[in-house]
Amino acid sequence: MQETNLKYYIETWGCQMNEEDSEKLSGMLKNIGYSRTETKEEAGIILYNTCCVRENAENKVFGNLGQLKALKRKNPDLIIGICGCMMQQEGMADKILSTFPYVNIVFGTHNAYKFPEYLNRVKTEGVQIKEIFNKEEEIVEGLPIDRKSDVKAFVTIMYGCNNFCTYCIVPYVRGRERSRKSEDILNEVKELVKAGYKEITLLGQNVNSYGKGLEEDINFAKLLRMINEVEGIERVRFMTSHPKDLTDDVILAIKECDKLCEQIHLPVQSGSNNILKKMNRHYTREYYMELVNKIKKEIPGVSLTTDIIVGFPGETEEDFLETLELVREVGYSAAFTFIYSRRNNTPADMMLNQVDDADKHHRFDRLVKAVNENVIKLNKEFENQVVEVLVEGMSKNDETKYSGRTRNGRLVNFEGENVKIGDLVNVEITRAQPFSLLGKMI
Ligand code: SAH
Ligand code: SF4
Ligand code: F3S
Repeated sequence: MQETNLKYYIETWGCQMNEEDSEKLSGMLKNIGYSRTETKEEAGIILYNTCCVRENAENKVFGNLGQLKALKRKNPDLIIGICGCMMQQEGMADKILSTFPYVNIVFGTHNAYKFPEYLNRVKTEGVQIKEIFNKEEEIVEGLPIDRKSDVKAFVTIMYGCNNFCTYCIVPYVRGRERSRKSEDILNEVKELVKAGYKEITLLGQNVNSYGKGLEEDINFAKLLRMINEVEGIERVRFMTSHPKDLTDDVILAIKECDKLCEQIHLPVQSGSNNILKKMNRHYTREYYMELVNKIKKEIPGVSLTTDIIVGFPGETEEDFLETLELVREVGYSAAFTFIYSRRNNTPADMMLNQVDDADKHHRFDRLVKAVNENVIKLNKEFENQVVEVLVEGMSKNDETKYSGRTRNGRLVNFEGENVKIGDLVNVEITRAQPFSLLGKMI
């Protein structure tokens, strides 16, 4: 195949893990001379990085793949690649290739670093490639990363998950837990500082179990303290924290270290002990509430966010009401709410008492309402207060305003003068909106 078009288009579904993988895929492509385009029609390569955590994530991928048929017909040289979590499911790669035979490359999460090699083979040999590794490998360090933002960066500290919550497919598609050496993480953070980055978010499916299996004497709290010492970084966040593994040491580190932001994402999933047990979450409602109260006491002004699933098999109206009550009790500043989605070969998929769709939706609507009422109430408390904002760019809806976040994660759009992206500025909040704050720089 003649090399004519060096533009690539990449689309990413799913969580920050996938976003970070896409930044690496993008980095590898740029390294071999490609440049990014935001229009599919312009691209010589289209790459889809997929997610399978819920059925609707998969449906979006199928829909998008179908649409590529016309593009491929117009441009037979177009190279289409599909990767990510969805490909790690048994039989999925074959299903994709038989339904969409015009796809050129299929690969999984464990061998994404081999993408340039696959691309080269497609171009020189004209073959179709399907390569999925069933098992995780050693962590590959040193891949180029083409980051989306110039101000804030994701830094993965661990891969995989060992928890096997009964509803969840992630451990099957991302493999077992593996931590990066602290030295590699610190070097990456230092490089980011040199490149002008101000904020980092440490990523892992369960950051609290960071360090297990490494030869060095380290855990998550120690890593946080080491990162806090890196000169020049302004803010450090992390996700996700499994409540069962969030230790007092981590809470103390957030309290004592000035760079660690007062924000914790602490997915509760359900407020009912009965359901938590069936989910294999390893904590009770009482334990969770005790943890929340400890965090609130130790870290003043802390924001708590969460993930919640409604309609898990066997969830009764009473179970659901316990979730609603917990949401009100905790007062989350944001919550990601999901309708339970059956995932092939997970234990919950095989449970007999699946909840009716209508009940799921009815619960979902009430949950969203309760969450939003809380968010709006908490945002109101910011009116007339002065907050520190890290400037990330211009507001999406109003280009005369700057946009950024507070330490505890609130989105702020504000008027200001002589502001540069990456500045830390003080903003007086003039008005709270449902999902953002409006203000004026002082
Ligand atoms: N490791 C993280 C995030 C995992 S996926 C954690 O443990 O919190 C993000 C969220 O998707 C989960 O927290 C859960 O709320 C939701 N989720 C996972 N599997 C799901 C399923 N089968 N149906 C609906 N929501 C699901
Ligand atoms: Fe999934 Fe549970 Fe692992 Fe999170 S902790 S990725 S919800 S199995
Ligand atoms: Fe993330 Fe989806 Fe994979 S939530 S880990 S991209 S299945």
